[in-house]
Amino acid sequence: MSSPPPPDDGEGEGSGGRSLSYGEAEYWDARYVEEGGAPYDWYQRYDALRPFVRRFAPPASRLLMIGCGSALMSEDMVADGYVEIVNIDISSVVIEMMRKKYFNIPQLQYLRMDVRDMSMFPDESFDCAIDKDIQWQFHLLNFVQFLGTLDSLMITYGDPSVRVPHLNQPGCNWKIVLYILPRPGFTGKIRRHVLDPVPLTEKGRLPDGFVPEDPDSHYVYVCEKMQGLTGAGSPTVERQGEE
Ligand SMILES: C[S@@+](CC[C@H](N)C(=O)[O-])C[C@H]1O[C@@H](n2cnc3c(N)ncnc32)[C@H](O)[C@@H]1O
Repeated sequence: MSSPPPPDDGEGEGSGGRSLSYGEAEYWDARYVEEGGAPYDWYQRYDALRPFVRRFAPPASRLLMIGCGSALMSEDMVADGYVEIVNIDISSVVIEMMRKKYFNIPQLQYLRMDVRDMSMFPDESFDCAIDKDIQWQFHLLNFVQFLGTLDSLMITYGDPSVRVPHLNQPGCNWKIVLYILPRPGFTGKIRRHVLDPVPLTEKGRLPDGFVPEDPDSHYVYVCEKMQGLTGAGSPTVERQGEE
């Protein structure tokens, strides 16, 4: 777990000093070459996310792992009974590394793909998708149609004021349930049960006065498609007592 987080401004230094954006394949290719194929899970490992994953995606689901990187998450999920995980990433370097590593695990497929163009997959190819830390604001606008074909989705990181508006674009009809997890290794006292959802306001914000115990907490959004609605843009969020 030695990899540093991406720069806050979403930019890093590329070859020749050119500034590379966090959303560019070249940036990630260079990182994965430097890291030499060492596995790295950003922010949380599967054991911490398992209760949420298990809840929205049964092991028989056809799962899409978006921006898989070199994470052990998919391998851990297979060990936990998942049977079909298609892993995509914009970095050809990491996809090549992961293909070699997992050539003998048939439940895992690795494809070099940009999430902004999912046209290769016919509608209804997947039941659920997991996006662990790929920075949605770069991608979602071009991704809405694909999202509409999923039953459920789990994404991580990002404050609700940023994530919820993206998730509630027209065409997306999600019931959104938010969980807040302390960083791995956080030693402070947590006053609530981390498996309890954190209620969101009508506008999809944290309740007034709510302050996570760990200021660097991680957000987990579990989204389930609601049937029969058109997704008019106002958030449908889980509120206290509804769970
Ligand atoms: C912060 S890392 C997270 C890796 C892994 N999901 C984890 O949790 O450890 C973000 C990953 O998203 C990939 N990525 C960035 N933009 C992408 C895009 N447009 N399409 C697919 N993958 C992308 C990067 O190559 C990188 O592997």
